[in-house]
Amino acid sequence: MAFSERFLDELISRSDIVDVVGGYVQLTKKSGSNLFGLCPFHSEKTPSFSVSQDKQIYHCFGCGKGGSSINFIMEMENLSFPEAVAFLAKKYGMEVPDDSPDEYKGKRTRMLQLNKDAARFFYDNLKKPVGGSAVEYIAKRGISKELVVRFGLGAAPDSWNSLYDAMKSRGYSAEEMLDAGLIKKGRNGGFYDTFRNRLVFPVIDVRGSVIGFSGRILGDGEPKYLNSPDTVVFKKSKNLFGLNLAKKSKMGMIILVEGNIDVVSLHQAGIDCAVASLGTSLTPDQARLISRYTDNAVICYDSDNAGVKAAQRAIDILEKTGLTVKVLQVPGAKDPDEFIREKGPDAFKLLLERSENHIEYRIMAIRKKFDLDINEDRLAFLNEATELLSTLPNAIEREIYGSRVAELSGVTPEAVAAEVKKAYRKRVKAEKTKFERNSVRPNVTAQPMDKSLRYENVGSAAAEEGVIRLLLLDPSLISKTRELSRSDFTSDYLGRAFEEIGKRLSAGGSVSIPVLSESLSAEEIGSLTGIVQKPEAMGNYEQAMGDYINKIKTEKLKKDLNAAALRYRETKGYGDKYGK
Ligand code: GTP
Ligand code: MN
Repeated sequence: MAFSERFLDELISRSDIVDVVGGYVQLTKKSGSNLFGLCPFHSEKTPSFSVSQDKQIYHCFGCGKGGSSINFIMEMENLSFPEAVAFLAKKYGMEVPDDSPDEYKGKRTRMLQLNKDAARFFYDNLKKPVGGSAVEYIAKRGISKELVVRFGLGAAPDSWNSLYDAMKSRGYSAEEMLDAGLIKKGRNGGFYDTFRNRLVFPVIDVRGSVIGFSGRILGDGEPKYLNSPDTVVFKKSKNLFGLNLAKKSKMGMIILVEGNIDVVSLHQAGIDCAVASLGTSLTPDQARLISRYTDNAVICYDSDNAGVKAAQRAIDILEKTGLTVKVLQVPGAKDPDEFIREKGPDAFKLLLERSENHIEYRIMAIRKKFDLDINEDRLAFLNEATELLSTLPNAIEREIYGSRVAELSGVTPEAVAAEVKKAYRKRVKAEKTKFERNSVRPNVTAQPMDKSLRYENVGSAAAEEGVIRLLLLDPSLISKTRELSRSDFTSDYLGRAFEEIGKRLSAGGSVSIPVLSESLSAEEIGSLTGIVQKPEAMGNYEQAMGDYINKIKTEKLKKDLNAAALRYRETKGYGDKYGK
């Protein structure tokens, strides 16, 4: 059974191809009666995607895709034929006739209903004794009640057939449950539940339908996650966990993480634009899906090797869809969830803000200056890019972006790594000489009045004071302090003050001495007021901020070098080589 021809004709004539495609692709008239644009189905720089209004079809000379407005919607919106028809009918104000195919109201609708009922069943279990261990696990992971509701989390009981029985009694057949991937066939012909003794995450698509499930084991064990198989309504490679919520975010970006738990954890921290791919590496379809809701993607994968590799691949895939991509590394934690648990939501937001001006962007800016098809240009690009990479303090970042530069310039990652290392060493040496020249000046900076706040490195502390003073004078200068973190401060309380100021500003708050009083001791506030009253050279605050930061960095470098030298001496021991 199919839609009546009359209905389809009417629909096609109303949903003009130029109008339909024009909603997704910018079309311009080029030759003859055809319109051209950049193909939405593959990545290209010159338009080979044509639309013919006469024929009411589209065709891409690059990738060969083509069809009517219905096919276009099927591809773009990831819909079945009847769904695309319904989509267009709605858009162009037509009623889908009652005699439309069974398939339309049939299998898919039925499976979505089953999924919805199953999700309800899992959710309701949380209130029953069978859900006890899941509730415990949820508490252990620090997931709040509110988030459980928002994500519709649930419990699959430790039983072979509780879902099966519950859905059976609601009138679903075993075959329907098999098709939906909710049960499996046992060897003796019986059936058993797919999800058992797990925390269940429903996968909800952008239209709000429950299309599948992801179940995490309660604690350690294998496999950690179990996902619904691909079904009539669920294609892993074309959906993202959390997108139903993230698409409504006002943050102006989508953050891509690896784990379901990371998604929930970020949303709980107020970062409501996090999504995860469903246990597979990111696909072009998923990238396109993201690009429908935002221009900015932030990759925040686990900090292990696999995560770094996956991030490199994801950058590429996302960029091909025209997204601006940033990579966020969570320092000192294995994943975003752990980072937030240990350092708090504000720390994550601060990281996010700092990633603004990220290195990927700067590499791309350098790339734009050169034509990478020309050998000389490629070399010049490589030089400039390695110079940039050598300024990165984080070795993992140097590695990620090193291989990125390698890829762009057609050189092996090893060769780039070697160049970066050379540039890095040179930089360290230069900074050291510069510092030695500067430090000939006598240190006249006073110590804080309160003895407990005494500075161990007066030179650095003077600059740290300067940073705080400037921030209190002009909070907008916070944007110039992205390279600075609390750990760069030699004075503990100045470091804390700096962190606090950053947090408050990134949360949209204000900073002033009274506001900071909440988090600093009376002695510390006293010292701060002293600092604010010291004169700051008039004129260019930005320049002054830069100088202070350089000074702090140089001091830190010097300290690190000394420590490294010391370690070297200790491990090697003097006399190994010369003594006997
Ligand atoms: P935690 O270890 O609890 O923090 O889990 P997580 O949600 O952060 O997931 P993790 O980073 O370990 O894995 C990332 C994603 O990969 C998960 O959300 C799953 O979608 C998928 N995944 C992980 N382990 C398995 C597995 O054993 N089988 C399958 N199919 N997918 C998995
Ligand atoms: Mn994790």
